[in-house]
Amino acid sequence: MSPRPDLLPALLGLFNFVLVVITATLLYLLFGPNLIDTYRNQPVAMEQNAYRPGSDDNTTEVGQDKVVDGIHLQTGLIYAEGFNIVRGTCTACHSAKLVTQNRATREGWMEMIRWMQAKQGLWDLGDNEPIILSYLAANYAPQETGRRSNLQVDEIEWYILEMN
Ligand code: HEC
Repeated sequence: MSPRPDLLPALLGLFNFVLVVITATLLYLLFGPNLIDTYRNQPVAMEQNAYRPGSDDNTTEVGQDKVVDGIHLQTGLIYAEGFNIVRGTCTACHSAKLVTQNRATREGWMEMIRWMQAKQGLWDLGDNEPIILSYLAANYAPQETGRRSNLQVDEIEWYILEMN
């Protein structure tokens, strides 16, 4: 027995509707979370997953990004406070390598930023500037380059290492 001809349009409509719902669900399952990540343009679950020195597993999934031993693999940047802002700002024009290959004091970093602002079209960093400078000064400070002058015993300044 075939469906009554006058019901066919209704059946076709229902069939189309179900098809659209299934397609939409599949598309969402496949791409939805990725699109949301891309839109937010930042690693998700930063707080919950943040790198903790001394934890057993040094690989952390940050959204789709990986952080291994405190280094954000995609950029090579140290994954620390201010990372999101530095990544967002300092990889816009050039590779993060320019950042990671350099070492400077806070003043030195400030000079580089001023130079880029004067010559390379870097914009005013506003409230982000102190955050960026603190990140750079803390993670890419001059003493982290392997070579240093010999220690003069009476010049050693001891300090308490801050872990956060
Ligand atoms: C508006 C574009 C732009 C942005 C944004 C930008 N830079 Fe640059 N930067 C440049 C250009 C252009 C150069 C020169 C590149 C070259 O020499 O190949 C440069 C060079 C550098 C250098 C190398 C300087 C040297 O003495 O060789 C460092 C370090 C650097 N940038 C760090 C940063 C940091 C940190 C940030 C984030 C605050 C940043 N850049 C954001 C454009 C930019």
